[in-house]
Formats: sequence, C-alpha cells, structure tokens
Amino acid sequence: MPMIYFAAPSLWPEYEVALPAALAEAGIEAKVVTEVPEPGLVDYIVYAPSAPLQDFTPFTRTKAVLSLWAGVERIVGNATLTQPLCRMVDPSLTEGMVEWVVGHTLRHHLGMDRHIVNPSHVWNPVCPPLARERPVTILGMGALGRACAEALRALNFPVTGWSRTPKPGCLHGEDGLEAALRSAEIVVTLLPKTPETENLLNARTIGFLPRGAVIINPGRGALIDDAALLSALDAGHVGHATLDVFRVEPLPAEHPYWSHPRVTVTPHIAADTRASSAARVIVENIRRGEAGEPFVNLVDRSRGY
Ligand code: NDP
Ligand code: OXD
Repeated sequence: MPMIYFAAPSLWPEYEVALPAALAEAGIEAKVVTEVPEPGLVDYIVYAPSAPLQDFTPFTRTKAVLSLWAGVERIVGNATLTQPLCRMVDPSLTEGMVEWVVGHTLRHHLGMDRHIVNPSHVWNPVCPPLARERPVTILGMGALGRACAEALRALNFPVTGWSRTPKPGCLHGEDGLEAALRSAEIVVTLLPKTPETENLLNARTIGFLPRGAVIINPGRGALIDDAALLSALDAGHVGHATLDVFRVEPLPAEHPYWSHPRVTVTPHIAADTRASSAARVIVENIRRGEAGEPFVNLVDRSRGY
C-alpha cells in the first residue's frame, strides 16, 4: 500500500523513520515514499498545506489526505481535493500549545516584564493579584482551547470559553462573544481561520474588552484586524498583544508589530507537530481507513475547519 509524504523536505528525515515505525507498531504493511511515478497508485497522502502539491485530481485511488497541520485554511477550499481531509490533533501539539499559552498568560498576569527589564533598578514591591482574580477568555474551545482552559483552571484562573456551537459551561454566538470579551482581562484566540472568524477581533469587538486587557493570539493572524489592534494598543485600551501568527509569515521587517512597545512577536512557534506522536495519529487514520472505520479529525469543508 503506497503512501506519499508531501510536506517539508527538511522534516522528511524524521518522518522517514517515524512513519514506518508507527506503521510497524500498528501491524500495517505500507511503503512511505516522497515520489511516485504514478499518482493513481497512492492510497494515502501525508500532507502539509505548505507543500507545492495543489492539484489532487490525479490521485484517483487516494483514500485520505492526512494533514500534519491543525489549521487547514490553505487547503480546505481546494476544489481538486475531493478525498476525505483529516487535520492534525496530536497530544504533543496540544501539550506545546498549553505550555505556550500558560507561559504567556502567567507573564502578563504576574507582570514579569517589570522585573525582567528594570534598567533604573526601581524597588516597587507591588504584588500581582491571585490567578483567581484574573478572568481569562478563550475564543475557540476545540482540541487546543479546551486543553488550555483546563490547564489555566488548574491554576485557578476563572476561564470563560466561547465557541461556535453551544456547549455546557461555554458561551457561543454574537451575544456570547460580547459577554466573553467584556469580562476578559486576558483573551486567548484559538480559532481556525474561516470566513466567519476573519477579523473577529476588530474595532467594535476589541472595544468590548476592559481597558488594559491583554490579547494572546496563537490561532491565526487573520483573526485580528491589525489596524484596529494597533490603534487600541496606541490608545492603551489594549495593554499588550502577544502574537504568534500573522497574515504574512515571516512577519515583514517593516511591520509595526515588530517595534511596538506593547507587542510581543513570536515566530509561529506556539506549538509544533512532532514526528513521533504525529506519525501515530496519521497511522491510526490509515488503520481506520483499512478497517472501514470512520476517520477521526475529519475536516468539515462546509464549516471550513
Ligand atoms: P478545533 O477545530 O479543535 O477547534 C476550533 C474551535 O473554534 C472550536 O471550538 C470551534 O467551535 C471554534 N470555532 C470555529 N469557528 C467559530 C466561529 N465562527 N465562532 C466561534 N467559534 C468558532 O481546532 P484546534 O483547537 O485544534 O486548533 C485551533 C487553531 O489553532 C487551528 O485552526 C490553527 O489555526 C491554530 N494552531 C496554531 C498553532 C501555532 O503554532 N500557532 C499550532 C496549531 C494550531 P465548535 O466547538 O462549536 O466547533
Ligand atoms: C498548525 C500550525 O496549524 O502549526 O498546525 O499552525
């Protein structure tokens, strides 16, 4: 059963080992290659949306396209991709996101910068409030948002979640968004990029935040209207923005985010897909495909995620 790897060539040495190991562990016989003379013979495609492959038409026998990325906005609208598309939900990716979100939340909650950068050696013994006094809102309560909410709640942060569909203990919809933002001192955006989420944080919705709130965005750059955020930062309405993702990556050298004193830029490193655990996730879907079971982490094209 041939499967083909269409993702970063730099990561192939890792996947060249991890995929066969996971296949062997699952008792599946398959050959993983990076080139096939005949696309019509490929059963599964391991894919990164950054790969040059954009025309899936010749892959007539392919049973699934298995994305190594969680976010599929670059591929979900591809009309040639008619095969099932599964996105990445990987325990290590989730673990990385939880660490990044908790770390940056604690930085702002504890006001760490005041002590890390203190050139005048000011002795200012102001204690931060307890986490229980710092409301955090997470926009997007999917695989990553839920795990971050759980970790922050374990530290006693009162966490409000917001998602598209109703869920117990979670806000949703337009009214829910306003309520979720009005109560938030720290907002974490873990939404996919879709037509509905683009510019979700704009002048109007940023205006719902209490003065001085912090925005932490490891979701996608397009979730935020950049001009609206910059003017809210300039006005002090938003106290700080920690941004991991941008409309254009790498973030262009002249972008005002780089030099804004109230912005922290991290270079899309919040969470990484790790080959050893991701290979198991990929292989579980291959096992399902071969056993005639439904795929997991299937992308719903009509929703866009
Ligand atoms: P999921 O698909 O599991 O969760 C998405 C969440 O967003 C769901 O709760 C969903 O609501 C909600 N949502 C989607 N559309 C809307 C909407 N219009 N209004 C309100 N809520 C909405 O995704 P993940 O948690 O796995 O990943 C989230 C995103 O994180 C990815 O799409 C990707 O962009 C980003 N990411 C960033 C990384 C980084 O390194 N910076 C690494 C990995 C991912 P519902 O539950 O109702 O469906
Ligand atoms: C992803 C990402 O979507 O790394 O997996 O952003």
